[in-house]
Formats: sequence, structure tokens, C-alpha cells
Amino acid sequence: MKKLFSLFLLVLSALIFVGCSSDSSSDGEGDGANDAGEDNKKVEIFSWWTGAGEEDGLLALIDLFKEKHPEVEVDNAAISGGAGTNAKAVLATRMQGDDPPSTFQVHGGDELNEGWVAADKMQPLNDFFEEQGWMDKFPQDLIDMVSKDGNIYSVPVNIHRGNVMFYNMDIFEEHGIEIPTTFDEFFAAADKLQEAGVTPLALGDKEAWTATQLFENILLGVLEPEDYTALFNGEIPFDDEGVVEAAEIFKKTLDYVNEDHASRNWQDASQLVGNGEAAMINMGDWAKGYFSNDLNLETNEDFGYFPNPETVGEFVIITDTFGLPKGIDNEEETKEFLAVLGSVEGQDVFNPLKGSIPARLDADPSKYDQYGKDTMEDFSEAKLVPTLAHGSAAPEGFLTKVNQAVNIFVTQRDVDTFIDTLKKAASDL
Ligand code: GAL
Repeated sequence: MKKLFSLFLLVLSALIFVGCSSDSSSDGEGDGANDAGEDNKKVEIFSWWTGAGEEDGLLALIDLFKEKHPEVEVDNAAISGGAGTNAKAVLATRMQGDDPPSTFQVHGGDELNEGWVAADKMQPLNDFFEEQGWMDKFPQDLIDMVSKDGNIYSVPVNIHRGNVMFYNMDIFEEHGIEIPTTFDEFFAAADKLQEAGVTPLALGDKEAWTATQLFENILLGVLEPEDYTALFNGEIPFDDEGVVEAAEIFKKTLDYVNEDHASRNWQDASQLVGNGEAAMINMGDWAKGYFSNDLNLETNEDFGYFPNPETVGEFVIITDTFGLPKGIDNEEETKEFLAVLGSVEGQDVFNPLKGSIPARLDADPSKYDQYGKDTMEDFSEAKLVPTLAHGSAAPEGFLTKVNQAVNIFVTQRDVDTFIDTLKKAASDL
């Protein structure tokens, strides 16, 4: 009886073993190479590009990659939330737990260099850039933004502009509004619109970064690029009179926004402009992708654009980049993905949909509409400054505190408290 029982156990374990093996081979389905027990060829791409206005470019890039590498499985591990509101927290947990995605979206500047590179989590890509023949294909300023101590750590896929005001052309025409270039002109236009019962400026600060972005563009308008940069380098204090003036202008600007701003995200707020319920919005030019692809609006017919007041000739640069974390599986396949992402072809399928311009100097301008062409021209001539709201100008810890301070300011509108809080936070810089 005992013998019989042992035999039963043996047969059972054999069955379980067979079951497990066939399960694991079916896990690898979609990749015929696995059947031979080879490594699973897979790339996990981590970003926050989901849904309206965000994912079209990514999906086009993934399709291009799949065309070139049908043997590699792609796991699109995007987590929703504008500016990485949720994705960055998940990424931090994974990186701390030594469970990095194959590659992830990260902004050039401090977010990359003082974040993941300083934490020793990224592999240098200098040889890879040489192999791909990329050293003279990206602007040096951009290579510098993804480099630390002489090493390059990520591949830029795009350049977004942060200091753009998009406007509803019918509303401007109906109310005889000219494009404002100064703060005075902006407030004169805003008064006129408000008197006519139109919301002058759309805001959706359910996630605080949109209000921080508005404030940073006012800061740039007041301080000009040299002092703006000096502020984040710790050379100018946050109670400088320029910062106080910017806070006052920010406070006044908030008198012209939609009442339900706190319950809207950036897409919901941009929609107000698209629908003709508000006249303008300051949004990075991912809003251009949203207007064109999701709301089917025509550039320079339905919506127009101009730089934020007093920032003509200046360009707040936001670059989305992807690198190679340490300790990943499938390094070769990940490099293949980065090679596609950094190629002319890759950039030219991604950027026209995303609303951004290519990071490469040799991309094909004919693939871009008038907004893209104008932005490429502005980029080549403008003074470039890094964004705070998207993590390039200052480390993440400081940005988190600024977002909190801005969030409170939008409700309380107390300039002294705001400046005090910024000054305290700046001790982190
Ligand atoms: C930025 C990012 C853009 C866009 C935007 C809104 O941080 O660089 O590509 O995704 O957030 O979510």
C-alpha cells in the first residue's frame, strides 16, 4: 500500500512537472525561438504615454521596431498620468528593488543625471553612440543634457517646447484679439475676453505640474534666460525681486482661469480651447499632438500658437530620452530598440504624432506640419533653457517641493508664503 502510494506520488509529480514545462513554453508564445529553450527575446518599454494625446507616437515607434525585429516581443509598460505623475513613483520602486524595465522614459538634465546616473543605475552609451554614427547627429546641447562626467547615458527621441500658448483662432477673431507678446498685452486681451464672457486661460491642475509649468514660463519671461538659469544653479536666491514679481504675475494670471481647473488634467483643459470654451492654454506641445490626432483640429485653422508672453526667442526645452539601465535582461534587444528610436526613421514616425520636433539634426522637415516646421526653426535660433516642471533644471526632490508649494499657492494666492517655501526648498539645490 505504502509502495503504491509512493508510486502515485511519483506519477503525480511527473504530471505536475510536464504541466509546468508546457506552461512555461506557452508563456513564451509569440516568440517561436523560445520553443528551443532560448532566452525570451523581449523588450519592456516603460513610459507614461497612454491614452489621448500621448500614445500615438509610441505605438508608431513600437510598430516600426516590430517590423524590423519581428522576433522580439514588446511589452508596452506605460502607466498613465501626465508628466509621469504616477509612472515616476512606480519606476522608483522598481529601480530600488533591482527590477528595472529594459528601458524607460526619462527627461534629459537633472532627472537623468542627478537621479538615475548619480545613483549608479545606468550604463554609459558612448560606444553605442559611436557605433550608430550619432555623435554629430544630435545637437551638442542635447548630448550635454544626457551626459554626466563625459559619459552619455540616454538617447533623446524628441524635443518638446514648454513655453507655448495655444489659442482658439475663432475666439481670437471673433473678439478682435491680437497675439499678445508682453504681460500687459496678455492681461489686456484676458480682460477683453473675460468681459465678453469667455474664459481667457484654460488650466487643468488636477496634477500640479501644469501650474508649475505656467509659473516657470512667467519666471522666464521676467528673469530672462541668464537669470532663470542662474536661479536654478543657486546663484540667485528665490526671494530675488524678479521671482517675487513673477509670483505676483502668476497670482494675477490665476484670476483668468476656468473655475473647475482643479478637477481637470491637461487633456481636459486643452479640450476647453479645442471646443471653444476657453481662449488660450499654456501647454507643452504634446498638446499639439492632442489637438491634431485626438480632436482632429487643423493647425493654423482651428488653433494657433505663440510663445508665452515675454519669451519670444526663448525655448524651454523638454527632451524625452531612453537609456540602458544596469542589470537588465535582453540588453542586445534593448539596444536594438534604442537604435530604432534614435534613427531618422524612428524619430520621423514618432514626432509628427507626438507634437514634438526630432532630436536629430538630419530628420526630414517635410514630415512635419507648419507647427513642427516653425518650432524647428525657433529651436535652431532661440536661447535654450531647461524646464523645471519636467525635471531638467533641478533634482526631483526640489521639484516635488515646488509642485506642493504651487498647489497651495493656486488656492491661497499668498505670495509671501510661496516665496518663503521656495526659498526653503532651494536649500536642496
Ligand atoms: C512630459 C513629457 C511629454 C508629455 C508630457 C505630458 O513630462 O516630456 O512627453 O508626456 O509630460 O504627459
